[in-house]
Amino acid sequence: MKITVVGGGNVGLVSACCLADHGHQVALVEKDHVRLSALKRGRPPFYEPGLEDMLGKVLSDKTLVVTNELANTLPKSGITFVCVGTPSMRDGSQNLSQLSRAAKEIGGCLSAVKDFHIVVVRSSVLPGTAEGIVRRSLEKASGKVAGVDFGLAMQPEFLREGSAIYDSLNPERVIIGEFDKRSGDALEALYQAFYNGKAPIIRLPTSSAELVKYASNAFLATKISFINEIANLCEDISRADVAKIAECMGLDSRIGPKYLNAGLGFGGSCLRKDASALLDYSNRKGRPLNLVKEVLRVNDGRIRHLLKMLRHQLGNLRGKRIAILGLSFKPGTDDIREAPAIKLIRELLKLKAVIVAYDPAAISSARAELGDSIKYAGSASECIEKADCCVVATEWPEFKRLKPEDFLARMKRPIVIDGRRVYDHEQEAFSRKLRYVAIGLNL
Ligand code: UDX
Repeated sequence: MKITVVGGGNVGLVSACCLADHGHQVALVEKDHVRLSALKRGRPPFYEPGLEDMLGKVLSDKTLVVTNELANTLPKSGITFVCVGTPSMRDGSQNLSQLSRAAKEIGGCLSAVKDFHIVVVRSSVLPGTAEGIVRRSLEKASGKVAGVDFGLAMQPEFLREGSAIYDSLNPERVIIGEFDKRSGDALEALYQAFYNGKAPIIRLPTSSAELVKYASNAFLATKISFINEIANLCEDISRADVAKIAECMGLDSRIGPKYLNAGLGFGGSCLRKDASALLDYSNRKGRPLNLVKEVLRVNDGRIRHLLKMLRHQLGNLRGKRIAILGLSFKPGTDDIREAPAIKLIRELLKLKAVIVAYDPAAISSARAELGDSIKYAGSASECIEKADCCVVATEWPEFKRLKPEDFLARMKRPIVIDGRRVYDHEQEAFSRKLRYVAIGLNL
C-alpha cells in the first residue's frame, strides 16, 4: 500500500519506518530543514533504540522516502497519517497550529485527488478535534466533503519513548476512531494484515478514540502520583518500604504491577502535557477532573520533597557538591523534556549548590538546556568524585554497577539519595557503610 506520513517526530518516524519495514511504500514528509536533511542521511533526530538501523534499512530498500513535498507524494498514496506535534500552551491547553497548517495543506492536495483518499489523525488531540478543526480545514481547502469524497479517521498512538519500535510492532490495542465506515474498514484491513490478527482492533467514533489516549495517560499519571503519596507515608512508618507495598499491591490482578514505581515523579513529553490538556478540557466543559488536578499537584511536589531530603542530610546546600546520576526523564532516551533531574538541578542552582551530572545518553540535550551552569562527568564513577551527596534521578541500569565501596572511596561524604530505587538496600553493605536514603523507605 502507498502511504504518506506527515511529521517526522517520534510517532511519525517510528510508524513510517515500521510500515515501510513491513513492505508498504511510505513517503515521510518533514518540513523542518535540519530534521529533513538528518533523516535523508539515515539519522533519526532523537535517540531511540533500534531506530537508526531500521531507518537505514528502509531507506536502502527504498520502501521509505523522506521529502518535504507533500503535493508530490500525497496524490500517489491512498492514506495520509498526520503525526505533527500538538504542544501545550502555558495554560495547559493545546496548541493546534501545526495541525491546522497540515490539514490545510493536505486539503489543498486533496482537491486534485480523484480516488477516495483517507486522512488519519495520529497526533494526540482532544475530543472533537478530528471532526472539528481538521475536518473543517480539509473540506475548506479541498472543496470536498469528508466521508463522501475523502475519508477521515483518528488513531491514537500509545508508544513509549525508549521502546517505541517494540510498542509499535506489539500494541496491546489498536484504536480506530472513524468518521466514515469506509475509512474504518480500510484501516481495520491494514492493521489486521500488519499485526496478523494479534492485536485487538477496536472501532469507535473519533471523539471516543481521542479521549482514550488522554484517559489512558491521565490514568498512568494517577497510578504514579498515588504510589508517590504512599511513598511519602512510608517514610514516616517504621521499617516501611514502598517498593514492597507496590509489589504486594501489584500481585492483585485488578491493580497490576506496572506504573507503581515511586520516585521523582513522571516527566517526558506526554504524561504531564496530556493530563494538563485533559484537565483544561474538562474545565472548559464544566466537568472539572479534580482528581487529575491533584495528580499534577502531587507530581509537582516531588522535587520539593527531594530538596527536603537533601537539606535534611546536608543542611544548607550553598557550595555543597551534589552528584546527579541521570538527566533524561527515564532510561533509554536522551529526552530531557519535563525531566525531574533537570527541574531538581534548576532548584539546586538557585540554592547555590555545585552540580556535577552524568547521563549515558542525555548530556548533550542537558548541555543545550543548562549550558555551563553545571559540570558534566564522563562516567558515573567520575560524577560522584568528591561529592557531598549523590542523587539518583534516573534509573539507568549502569548505575547499579556502582557498589557501596565505590561511593565510600570516591565521595567526600558517602551519602546516597536514591530517587529511583535503583539500589538494593537489603544488601547489608549499603545500609551499614553508607548513609543510604531512598524514596519511600524507612530503614
Ligand atoms: C507515555 C505513555 O506511557 C505512552 O503510552 C504514550 O504514548 C506517551 O506517554 P513515555 O512518555 O515515553 O510514554 O514514558 P513512560 O514510560 O510512560 O514514563 C513516563 C514517566 O513516568 C517517566 O518519567 C517515568 O520515569 C515515570 N514513571 C513511570 C514513574 O515515575 N513510575 C512508574 O512506575 C512508571
